[in-house]
Amino acid sequence: ARPLVVALDGPSGSGKSSVSRQVASRLGLAYLDTGAMYRAATWWCVHQGVDLTDQPAVAALVASMPLEIGVDPSDPTVHVDGTDIAEAIRDSSISTAVSAVATNLEVRAELRRRQRELIDVERTAGFSGGVGVVAEGRDITTVVAPDADVRVLLTASEEARLARRAKDVHGDADASSVEATRDQVVRRDRDDSTVSQFLVAADGVVTVDSSDLDFEQTVQAVLEVVERTG
Ligand code: C5P
Repeated sequence: ARPLVVALDGPSGSGKSSVSRQVASRLGLAYLDTGAMYRAATWWCVHQGVDLTDQPAVAALVASMPLEIGVDPSDPTVHVDGTDIAEAIRDSSISTAVSAVATNLEVRAELRRRQRELIDVERTAGFSGGVGVVAEGRDITTVVAPDADVRVLLTASEEARLARRAKDVHGDADASSVEATRDQVVRRDRDDSTVSQFLVAADGVVTVDSSDLDFEQTVQAVLEVVERTG
């Protein structure tokens, strides 16, 4: 079959990671979580004791970061220097710090280069039945893979995104859990959107609004876009 590259962007709490992973799995494609790469870079800098506001030092460290990303949607792995950091990068300390690293333009250039390499491998290698990749993040449809066969912006109302993230992090979506997640959703998206455009769809990018959809309905909506445009 012809290789298929699906690019999917969206704000935090839109469900893009779980939805992309499921879509990749159903289509037999690889799954690339580019947010995990920015999180890994942040973890690595903190681990190495570098001041995250020291942009040249952060850029130099990320340029030599020994990162390995596993793209199996049933087991996406993240290792730095042989250490499994898949769980550590989900810690709230990383979620709070990651925008400082992700707004470093030299870091973006380095990770963009690595992301394109990973996508190119999947374009030709074949994964499990299919050939190609679902890559998700903030700038995949616009910068990393603007030539992707399918480009989707997954959005949801701020209210829906806050409630989802609160449930993920605190197990419920009561008022205090929602407030506690606000920094990690609203403030992070504001900071991130200074360097990437993921709040409105770019030309040719199809918007899927998941505010009133459950997980399965959202997966179906994205699969329909793939059928229609891929
Ligand atoms: O998607 P996730 O929440 O794991 O992304 C973590 C962070 O990585 C984002 O808040 C953003 O700062 C950064 N990111 C980015 N560009 C991407 C993917 C993620 O700047 N393509």
